[in-house]
Amino acid sequence: MAKTHVTMRVNGSEVEGLVEPRTLLVHFIRENLALTGTHIGCETTHCGACTVDLDGMSVKSCTVFAVQAEGSEITTIEGMANADGTLSALQEGFRQMHGLQCGFCTPGMIVRAHRLLKENPNPSEEEIRFGIAGNLCRCTGYQNIVKAIQYAAAKINGTEFREAAE
Ligand code: FES
Ligand code: FES
Repeated sequence: MAKTHVTMRVNGSEVEGLVEPRTLLVHFIRENLALTGTHIGCETTHCGACTVDLDGMSVKSCTVFAVQAEGSEITTIEGMANADGTLSALQEGFRQMHGLQCGFCTPGMIVRAHRLLKENPNPSEEEIRFGIAGNLCRCTGYQNIVKAIQYAAAKINGTEFREAAE
């Protein structure tokens, strides 16, 4: 099949590649760019393990063709750490609050939470749960993910961290 040349910015760097029109963005990210933090957990757009930040939106990259991302600005989990290599508030929060177990949902969860906290810097527990409803986790039961996001929000806002009720 004829291939199309695509260019986009991923984690601050210009990238390019030759893709078939049918190539999913998640496959372009994982296979062409070797950014394998972004995962695939379903074939029905439910799980959100493939979530990336695309032009300021949380997007399930299994449901976008790579050609549709031409010219876009994408951030994946590999671009989430601070410039000096230290963990972002969310990454730190997930570690501190034990918001991950197998780690398979975690890249998508953190990338989604990153956008959620831009959309709503001080979310309630209910708003966090609703805000990550597009991201499934089979391990944690979500409770500690909620705490991790609250931890990160407090750190970013410079406020006191208050855990969700058990
Ligand atoms: S891989 Fe499950 S929503 Fe994309
Ligand atoms: S930590 Fe295993 S699926 Fe979420």
